Amino acid sequence: MINNHIPVMLNEVKSFIPIKKNINLIDATFGGGGYSKAILEEFDIKNLIAIDRDPISKVFFSDLNKKYKNIELFNEKFSKIDKLINKSKYSNEKFDVIIFDLGISSNQIDDPKRGFSFQNEGPLDMKMGSSILNAYEIINSFDEKKLSSIFYELGDEKHSRRIARNIINKRTIKPISNTKELSDVIKKSVPLIYSKNKIHPATKAFQALRIYVNDELNEIKIALEKSEALLANDGLLIIVSFQSLEDRIVKDYFNHKSGKRWRSSRHHPDLGDLGPITLKIITKKPLRPKDFEINNNPRSRSAKLRVAKKI
Ligand SMILES: C[S@@+](CC[C@H](N)C(=O)[O-])C[C@H]1O[C@@H](n2cnc3c(N)ncnc32)[C@H](O)[C@@H]1O
Repeated sequence: MINNHIPVMLNEVKSFIPIKKNINLIDATFGGGGYSKAILEEFDIKNLIAIDRDPISKVFFSDLNKKYKNIELFNEKFSKIDKLINKSKYSNEKFDVIIFDLGISSNQIDDPKRGFSFQNEGPLDMKMGSSILNAYEIINSFDEKKLSSIFYELGDEKHSRRIARNIINKRTIKPISNTKELSDVIKKSVPLIYSKNKIHPATKAFQALRIYVNDELNEIKIALEKSEALLANDGLLIIVSFQSLEDRIVKDYFNHKSGKRWRSSRHHPDLGDLGPITLKIITKKPLRPKDFEINNNPRSRSAKLRVAKKI
């Protein structure tokens, strides 16, 4: 299988990895293995643990595994990171670096059969790996209010109510069965001017649906806390996010754990006001891709990179 994913902000990610011997590293979103491959080539790695919930990651991993034997893949959700490590032969290890490169890879979005994209006709699936529901079940069974709140809260979609109403109207005649049908309903629900925009009118609703199907925001909230416990002293959490809800969770978590507790977070309400200070923020502001990267790889345009160190 050809790897279509171009790693985002790879140089910036690498610039934080310490140059020392025997690094233990977790690549919690292995994807096509772009980060892992570059890191194995350039750093002195003791163990590299890869995690990815998508079974296609096994294909890319086995390629890399031919050359590197100090690597292992867990085909699982990263919210289980603690159990995966603690039940493995690495249970006594602490990690120097844990990386999350959130969202989906080009290998997922470019495959019409996965149903992530409104550009190509495909089944309404959108599952990155095992999930309770797929997009078809959500679109064809959730009530209008619930659909509208998914589009509004997870996609910041202004026309969420109209889209939800039109989905209900359409599916009373016949289930909405593929990405093209869904994207047409969305297109007809938003003012005509949106169809002339550079950004496709279904972008936000599709993103919202994908986040819901894969429970992406809870995944990252759970994984942050668990990852911190696996870090060695001075170990780094390196996180690349692609949309504002995700980035907000990371930012609030870093702020909170580094002692900035002037307000509780709407996105992370479970963070109490107390608890020890365990992180130092390394990137005061998130790093953004350079213009030449955005020109070469437009999918990098919304990336934000944040790094914190365990203290
Ligand atoms: C942007 S891609 C990572 C690309 C990778 N850095 C590379 O260079 O090829 C994100 C990957 O994270 C995986 N992923 C997203 N959420 C996950 C989760 N909760 N648990 C495990 N893997 C997840 C996706 O399946 C996808 O392969």
